[in-house]
Amino acid sequence: MTAIRVLPDLLINQIAAGEVVERPAAALKELLENSLDAGARDISVQLASGGTKLLKVSDDGDGIGKDDLPLALARHATSKIATLEDLERIASLGFRGEALASIAAVSDLTLTSRRRDAKHAWSISAEGGTVSDPRPAAHDPGTSVEVHELYFNTPARRKFLKSEATEYAHCDEVFKRIALARPDVAFRLQHNGRAQWHVKVQPPDQRISALLGDEFSATALAVDAHSTGLRLTGLVGLPAAARGARDAQYCFVNGRFVRDKVLAHALRQAYQDVLHHDRHPAFVLFVELDPARVDVNVHPAKSEVRFRDSQALHQFVFHVVSRVLAGSVAGGATGTVPAAAARPAAVSYAATQYRMPLGVAQSAAVYETLFGRERAALDAATGAEMSALAETSGEIHPLGYALAQLAGIYILAQNAHGLVIVDMHAAHERIVYEKLKTQLDADRIAMQPLLIPVVFNAERLDVATAEDHAEALASIGFEIAALSPTALAVRGVPVALKDADAGALARDVLAEIREFGASRVLTEHQNALLSTMACHAAVRANRALSVPEMNALLREMEATERSGQCNHGRPTWHQISVAELDKLFMRGR
Ligand SMILES: Nc1ncnc2c1ncn2[C@@H]1O[C@H](COP(=O)(O)OP(=O)(O)OP(=O)(O)O)[C@@H](O)[C@H]1O
Ligand SMILES: [Mg+2]
Repeated sequence: MTAIRVLPDLLINQIAAGEVVERPAAALKELLENSLDAGARDISVQLASGGTKLLKVSDDGDGIGKDDLPLALARHATSKIATLEDLERIASLGFRGEALASIAAVSDLTLTSRRRDAKHAWSISAEGGTVSDPRPAAHDPGTSVEVHELYFNTPARRKFLKSEATEYAHCDEVFKRIALARPDVAFRLQHNGRAQWHVKVQPPDQRISALLGDEFSATALAVDAHSTGLRLTGLVGLPAAARGARDAQYCFVNGRFVRDKVLAHALRQAYQDVLHHDRHPAFVLFVELDPARVDVNVHPAKSEVRFRDSQALHQFVFHVVSRVLAGSVAGGATGTVPAAAARPAAVSYAATQYRMPLGVAQSAAVYETLFGRERAALDAATGAEMSALAETSGEIHPLGYALAQLAGIYILAQNAHGLVIVDMHAAHERIVYEKLKTQLDADRIAMQPLLIPVVFNAERLDVATAEDHAEALASIGFEIAALSPTALAVRGVPVALKDADAGALARDVLAEIREFGASRVLTEHQNALLSTMACHAAVRANRALSVPEMNALLREMEATERSGQCNHGRPTWHQISVAELDKLFMRGR
């Protein structure tokens, strides 16, 4: 057995770097947070090649004195906390004294800084962990950290870096998060010598508009509420403006961007009644509370937190946001209407459709596209007879035969036991889902090339995702090509989804890949992904279905495994027996 050894410092820092700065964007986040902790009011960022060649952050903050410069690069050296009590009430973004040491271990780093009272600046460099002595330098009061050739000495880590566009897209996202949190600070960002962002000091709502677009601010509602020791401010998007992807959800706790289950759950609940389940609301929310009530020392990238009283926070956020959203609905000024009120109370009787041959012919064509030619022909020809049959035998098909469509949502059918009520959207969704699943299990999902590609404007991260995961996308039936850093063209979609909105569908699929990674999306998250996809194909409420179309759906349900529930666990159909109906009408007593 080999002897146990104490690892050299450089190696320790390189190991830590794997966690602290897993990609250029993570290094950028650390540098920006350091500048904010130093009280900067103006921060500028320069990147080259997605941050891998160069990553430079300059600020006008407090600066670091000559004697402290080497300490800034030393591991576990920090000016931000000194005791356990400090650790338990962290008010700064950094606190571990680990970021600069980690970055310096895997790059060529130069740190130049000047305190306000100093005559000139001092600079030190670290090349692969060896730190030089401080030398005089020219710099305005403040600090610049220049990181060249990130991961030059850790080939394994370098291999995991994605294309320049992907790495830049991640940097762009990190920059936006930080700039959103601090409208009181001016920020600039350049990539490969070109200006990408320039935001001046501005009120919070204007900062949100500048970074997320006027469209979001124009369709969002302001939130500003207090409770004992808690404050919630920001903007919540109107349900009607919700998106297919979770890309515009920003939560900050004491100025720190976090992903937090408690907050996410409270928001999901607040939107539950007013939002279709496959839409994601957009929001930018800031929670402020006493630092002693939140533990930020729980995650290597400091992007998760733990609340000491998560129940109270959940209640507060849920109530505040629900109230704001409810106000928008009741007020009517915004034009949002709760889903139930929007439903027409129309009942389309099967009988009328039978008497109009034209109606049958038209709907048969729709049905044909939905379910295939042979069945369309069969059902269109025998629709009337089948209904008659149902009255006598009814046992041929367990779900019976369609009678009518109710409220644009439900199919009413009759079987041997009585009345069957089917939620047509939920049922169709399940059928498409099972089809996709069977195909993917067999090998790959069949693709339908689109005659005219669907082009849409996309986030940089989406474009990067499409480029990086072309093969994974092909396996689930998509061909998505980048047209520019911010535009994508969908050239092919899964056959089963050929009538869906290709742009919205592609966006959702890319968002899932982005969130979980291509390999996890195709394994652990495969069902969630297919369910998201199926949701796009399914017939929406309010589409009038003809009787043959409805019968076709019933037959497909019978042929589909697990068709009793939609992919979200809601039942797809319900039986009401004649006996139950009799009871309702007090018959036979
Ligand atoms: N831009 C800056 N302006 C002034 N001081 C800085 C700046 N960047 C770093 N420092 C000093 O260097 C120290 C080390 O920075 P580093 O980021 O490694 O650790 P930290 O911010 O204390 O903790 P963490 O590892 O959580 O980020 C800081 O505590 C701070 O004193
Ligand atoms: Mg730091």
